[in-house]
Amino acid sequence: MSKISTVSNRLTTHDVQARKGGTPLVSLTAYTAPMAALLAPHSDVLLVGDSLGMVVHGLPDTLSVTPEMMILHAQAVMRGVAQADLPDGQKAPLVVVDLPFGSYEASPQVAYDTAVRVLKKTGADAVKLETSAVMAETVAFLTARGVPVMGHVGLLPQASRRDGGFRVKGKRQDQSQAVLANAKAIEDAGAFALVIEGVTESLATEITGALHIPTIGIGASAACDGQVLVVDDMLGMFAWTPKFVKPYGEIRQQITDAVAQYAADVRTRAFPSAQHCYQARADLTSPA
Ligand code: KIV
Repeated sequence: MSKISTVSNRLTTHDVQARKGGTPLVSLTAYTAPMAALLAPHSDVLLVGDSLGMVVHGLPDTLSVTPEMMILHAQAVMRGVAQADLPDGQKAPLVVVDLPFGSYEASPQVAYDTAVRVLKKTGADAVKLETSAVMAETVAFLTARGVPVMGHVGLLPQASRRDGGFRVKGKRQDQSQAVLANAKAIEDAGAFALVIEGVTESLATEITGALHIPTIGIGASAACDGQVLVVDDMLGMFAWTPKFVKPYGEIRQQITDAVAQYAADVRTRAFPSAQHCYQARADLTSPA
C-alpha cells in the first residue's frame, strides 16, 4: 500500500502548540501577497486579521468586514507565503484567518459553515474567533469536527461598539477573573492557541501560567508565549501608534518622502530620464 504524504511546508497547529513555554512565537498580521512573502521567513504565525478593514480599507472599526473580504485577502496571503524565499529546511508560517463579525456568533452550525468555507477557499491552516464567554460551545463544535481554532480573549475589537470603544481588560479584579475563566473554557473547548489582547500585564501572566496552550499577546505582556502586532503599526504606517506598539520602521515618512520626490521630478521633467525611456534601434529590421 502506498504511503500518503502528509508533509506540509508550513508549520502545523501541533508545531505551534509545542512551543508552549519555549522560544516565543513570532506573529504578525498579513493582508497582501508581497507583504506575506516578506514576513514569512521571520514569522511562525501569519494572521489574516479582520483589522484589514481598518488598516487596508479605511473603515472605522472591524464590524463591517465580510467573509468575502477575508477570503480574498487570505488567498493573496497564501500565494505570498508560497512564494516566500525561505532558508533551506525552514518551514513557512502557519496561516490563521479571522472570522469576521456576524459570520459565526449566531450558532455553532453557522460558525462551522463559515469556517469551512474560509478554509476551503483559501487553503489556510486555521481560523480565529473572538471568543467571548458564550463561544466555548462553538469552539468545541468546530474542533470536534476538524476545524483548528485559535481563540481570542481580553479586549475584543468586534465588541467595540457594545463596549464603547477599545478598552483594556483586567484593571478590576472581577473582570480579570472573568477573562481568566473564559480563557480556560476556550482551552477546554479545544483551541490550539489563544490571542490575549489589551489586558493588564498581571492578567496576561496569570492566563499564560494557567493554560497548557500557547498564548500570543498583543498589548498584553512579554510573559505570553508569543507576540502579534498589526504589521502596518509596527512599520510606522500611521500618524498615531497605540501604546503597546513599538515602531520598528518609519514607512509613513519613507512613502511621503519618496512620493514628494516623484511629484517634484515629474513636475520638473527630471523623470523619466533617458535611462527610463525606450529608444528606437537602427540595427533592427522588420521581419520579411
Ligand atoms: O484582526 C487582527 O489583526 C487581530 C489581532 C490580534 C492583531 O485580531
